[in-house]
Amino acid sequence: MKRLTCFLILFFVSEALGFEIPTNDLPEFAEYGDLVELTPRKFQFVPENRRYQRSVSGESGERLEDVDQVTLHSYKVRSTITSRTANTVIQTKVVNNSPQPQSVVFDVQIPKGAFISNFSMTVDGTTFTSSVKEKSVGRALYSQARAKGKTAGLVRSRALDMEDFKTEVNILPGAKVQFELHYQEVKWRKLGSYEHRLHLQPGRLAKHLEVDVWIIEPQGLRFVHVPDTFDGHFDGVPVISKGPQKAHVSFKPTVAQQRKCSNCLETAVDGELVVLYDVNREEKAGELEVFNGYFVHFFAPDNMDPIPKNILFVIDVSGSMWGIKMKQTVEAMKTILDDLRTEDQFSVVDFNHNVRTWRNDLVSATTTQVADAKKYIEKIQPSGGTNINEALLRAIFILNEANNLGLLDPNSVSLIILVSDGDPTVGELKLSKIQKNVKQNIQDNISLFSLGIGFDVDYDFLKRLSNENRGIAHRIYGNQDTSSQLKKFYNQVSTPLLRNIQFNYPHTSVTDVTQNSFPNYFGGSEIVVAGKFHPEKLEQLQGIITATSANTELVLETLAEMDDLEDFLSKDKHADPDFTKKLWAYLTINQLLAERSLAPTAAAKRKITKTILQMSLDHHIVTPLTSMVIENEAGDERMLADSPPQDHSCCSGALYYGSKVAPGSIPSWVNPSPTPMIPLPVKGAQVLESTPPPHVMRVENDPHFIIYLPKSQENICFNIDSEPGKILSLVSDPESGILVNGQLIGAKKPKNEKLSTYFGKLGFYFQSEDMKIEISTETITLSWGSRASTLSWADTARVINQRVLVSVKKEKTVTVTLDKEMSFSVLLHRVWKKHPINVDFLGIYIPPTNKFSPNVHGLIGQFMNEPKVHIFNERLGKDLKKPEASMEVKGHKLIVTRGLQKDYRTDIVFGTDVPCWFVHDSGKGFIDGHYKDYFVPQLYSFLKRA
Ligand SMILES: *[C@@H]1O[C@H](CO)[C@@H](O)[C@H](O)[C@H]1NC(C)=O
Ligand SMILES: *[C@@H]1O[C@H](CO)[C@@H](O)[C@H](O)[C@H]1NC(C)=O
Repeated sequence: MKRLTCFLILFFVSEALGFEIPTNDLPEFAEYGDLVELTPRKFQFVPENRRYQRSVSGESGERLEDVDQVTLHSYKVRSTITSRTANTVIQTKVVNNSPQPQSVVFDVQIPKGAFISNFSMTVDGTTFTSSVKEKSVGRALYSQARAKGKTAGLVRSRALDMEDFKTEVNILPGAKVQFELHYQEVKWRKLGSYEHRLHLQPGRLAKHLEVDVWIIEPQGLRFVHVPDTFDGHFDGVPVISKGPQKAHVSFKPTVAQQRKCSNCLETAVDGELVVLYDVNREEKAGELEVFNGYFVHFFAPDNMDPIPKNILFVIDVSGSMWGIKMKQTVEAMKTILDDLRTEDQFSVVDFNHNVRTWRNDLVSATTTQVADAKKYIEKIQPSGGTNINEALLRAIFILNEANNLGLLDPNSVSLIILVSDGDPTVGELKLSKIQKNVKQNIQDNISLFSLGIGFDVDYDFLKRLSNENRGIAHRIYGNQDTSSQLKKFYNQVSTPLLRNIQFNYPHTSVTDVTQNSFPNYFGGSEIVVAGKFHPEKLEQLQGIITATSANTELVLETLAEMDDLEDFLSKDKHADPDFTKKLWAYLTINQLLAERSLAPTAAAKRKITKTILQMSLDHHIVTPLTSMVIENEAGDERMLADSPPQDHSCCSGALYYGSKVAPGSIPSWVNPSPTPMIPLPVKGAQVLESTPPPHVMRVENDPHFIIYLPKSQENICFNIDSEPGKILSLVSDPESGILVNGQLIGAKKPKNEKLSTYFGKLGFYFQSEDMKIEISTETITLSWGSRASTLSWADTARVINQRVLVSVKKEKTVTVTLDKEMSFSVLLHRVWKKHPINVDFLGIYIPPTNKFSPNVHGLIGQFMNEPKVHIFNERLGKDLKKPEASMEVKGHKLIVTRGLQKDYRTDIVFGTDVPCWFVHDSGKGFIDGHYKDYFVPQLYSFLKRA
């Protein structure tokens, strides 16, 4: 009988999802102290060399000098990456050469988010293999094993982005033990490359130290790079061999190369081996790979214009940020602000117990604004508490308000970057309440990215906050590193290339598709979608992506043939034929875990739990809901492994682009990307307008007024001949608080000795909203209170402020409506720039249905109360082509001439002819008083009535 003195395996998981072992339930084993050291707060203070002692140490407490009593025979790490799916095996063999029993620890770091898929241990010929069990079952087995003094455990560390897998076994003199751990990950593209990190900590010199990384990428490898290993303090060099679609990185330092110095027993191998690579992307529509009943679709387009972003930086400036953290944050922010593009809009919110803003509104990232923001940030002196709730709500408010005012380009993306180093201490303290507030206010159109600095921050909270609001969270520990980490984090979201990305596959042959719609795609990342595919139904698989780019709506199509990959993969012994299936399971489980943590009801949560559990068992992986149980052939020795909780942030991918297909050829199963959530038309889009009402009051040209009188169904027209600069009251209704005035401009020079005048500027004032709208032939400026916003005639845009909607149709019209009850249209008349005489001018149209007060006045306003008009005695006039008539109006008898005036609303160039009766002498007799009575001093003056 082989003697196993003791197995200790324990998962120390503090998350709700994890395996909670009450402290008093901890087995009494020496490692408890170590376990505490591994919690993040303390981790960084553990001197590195302590780790050697821990990794393999004698039971009697002997230290390094005694270590050759246990020999590390081999330490091998092998990774195979097949189309982003990485399988890694860590295998060590240890021999006890001492005359005493020795406790041997297998202690390795695996990346956060990886799924452990197998663990086995062979102790002197007896193999213990693992099976995945539901956590409660595993726990029961664990208790039984513990009662028998035969337990083992996995220790989890929360340090950085690695998890600690640790198990310990006592072996007799002369005995050998072999450990083997398998785990799976999916490589996420970040900042233009995939990064594979292997944490190498053999703890001592290894007779055979071998690290191999095989990369098999059907798309072809663009580059493979291994940055300096172990900070350059090392002789052994990884060797890279690279073919078009495959690469091999091999690192096999000899024992001599491993030594820290020529005579020491200490190993210099202590750190990470990092392999960076990227793949080729010829197909714009992404790479669709189909294999073994599953498909995966990779989408990472580049070379596109960035979409403008509206970005709010929300920076924690509480007392704990004081010193190096703040210095580093300021440094990073300066670079980040410099990187903004002028089309971007931004502001900065800094908060401690109070919330301050650099600007209350978003401003364009011009050089001056950026310089000013930098100055503001530099001056910040951290102090006080942490009011995260209010800071976030303020940031959301600024974005939402800008959107509601129509100040956001509808084809832009809105982002919040939160940088914080601590939990809330002021204001709302309940994390669940903050989460709820944020979710309620964000309404799914802002992406919230969170960067947690240091150990005092509840990172799981930040993660939930971001996951729930279309963003990701990231955590950094070291203070020194804050600046570069913050920049790196920001760079991942600095270049939005697409919005509303939707992946579509034929429903008939595809099922169980992972998340297939994404709010944003950021340059340098990659969106991955996977699903099951039933090849019996189709020979080839078609994927269609719809998305909105900076300039256009994209429809990208890609087609995968069934046996494209089979041939390729069968030729490589390292290729993993299950990569599609594993990738699908990895994405699905991570999505379910994220959904589970946000499940609204207990029942919903239970349902998701059941699915995850089943998948973990089916795919033999350790998830937060399962444990790994290890037993020998006889089935009588057991130990347990729990998984570390997953970091879901890995999986909010983004992105891609492809060849265009004609819209007509889109199959019916394609759901076009949802219409932008912003209901207002975007720059460059069409503002839908109903056909203009047929009869309106209007002023056109040098100013010709046309007054439609609905009861008598007549058009009466007159001209006003005045001088440039004069302001005329068109509508003056102090009772309803509405006025429209027009200012005259002159032509470039007189024609036939007469200088024509036109309306060059119009002013609208809505007193109840305190809103002024100034429309010139150049710009449209809205102001209310102390705020102003300017649109150009080159925009198509809408601005809503309270009851007033201003809608601009590029180079054509501005429509101003109040509560839909009142409307005014302004037409822009552009003339040839070099025209010797004519200038650009404005026309205005006011429907007679507008409801003003009975006392409304002004050149047009007075006719809202229709005067009685009697037109009679039509006859040929002096000019034989123009009939004349007599008109009785307002007690005057006038002679009017039949004429034609233009309505330009449907045809801006030629206009449509409108017949009218023309009143001579500047409308004398038809209008109340003299036209000069309608002069007002200012663009927003009501008409004073005698
Ligand atoms: C786990 O590893 C052991 C030993 O290498 C092997 O026999 C077993 O089949 C593996 N189990 C799975 C599910 O891969
Ligand atoms: C998000 O949507 C809501 C509701 O439609 C809207 O009020 C808000 O302004 C939008 N915010 C942004 C930033 O687009």
